[in-house]
Amino acid sequence: MSPTTCPECTFIILDRGRWDQGCPEDQCMVGDVNLFMVDPENPSIAEIEIMIAEPMSRGRGFGEESVRLMLYYGATTLGISTFQAKIGEENLTSVRLFNRLHFTEESYSSVFQEMTLRWEVTETERQWLLDAVHVSAESYREMKQNRETDAHH
Ligand SMILES: CC(C)(COP(=O)(O)OP(=O)(O)OC[C@H]1O[C@@H](n2cnc3c(N)ncnc32)[C@H](O)[C@@H]1OP(=O)(O)O)[C@@H](O)C(=O)NCCC(=O)NCCS
Repeated sequence: MSPTTCPECTFIILDRGRWDQGCPEDQCMVGDVNLFMVDPENPSIAEIEIMIAEPMSRGRGFGEESVRLMLYYGATTLGISTFQAKIGEENLTSVRLFNRLHFTEESYSSVFQEMTLRWEVTETERQWLLDAVHVSAESYREMKQNRETDAHH
């Protein structure tokens, strides 16, 4: 990411299991997923980044689910038609994750030892995503209020 670009969209990832047990919000946070609009001339291209910061929370499916949800949100709500992901060549977990989500290698930078993966939202791919993601949107503020109310009963 260059210093001149800024995140257009950030979601904080919470562990639903901990949340449902009543853990404080900050103790439920496990990472974040971001979209950056990388081309000022073309807002339909976005770079996606995922971070599951807590090593204990890795290998449980949070990364894949979060990327899937962000692709869904980007493709259906933001009108993104091309997603890119820049991944260090040694980061095989991440490469496999994006490959599972149909990303393919677009280019490789030997200077940064980093590959750029790409996913085009064609009609077929869009349908695949819609079939694979089942989203139910809820207001976070309301969920939080309900949880606090339940805790007092
Ligand atoms: C790369 C990264 C995002 C992966 O997140 P994650 O939550 O561990 O990813 P997932 O759990 O979805 O998948 C990781 C592995 O766990 C496996 N897995 C997922 N759920 C599982 C479960 N319930 N039981 C056993 N294994 C499981 C997946 O199959 C996958 O296996 P693989 O490595 O053999 O392909 C995370 O390691 C990370 O934040 N790394 C540092 C930042 C980074 O590299 N970001 C990518 C650049 S955009």
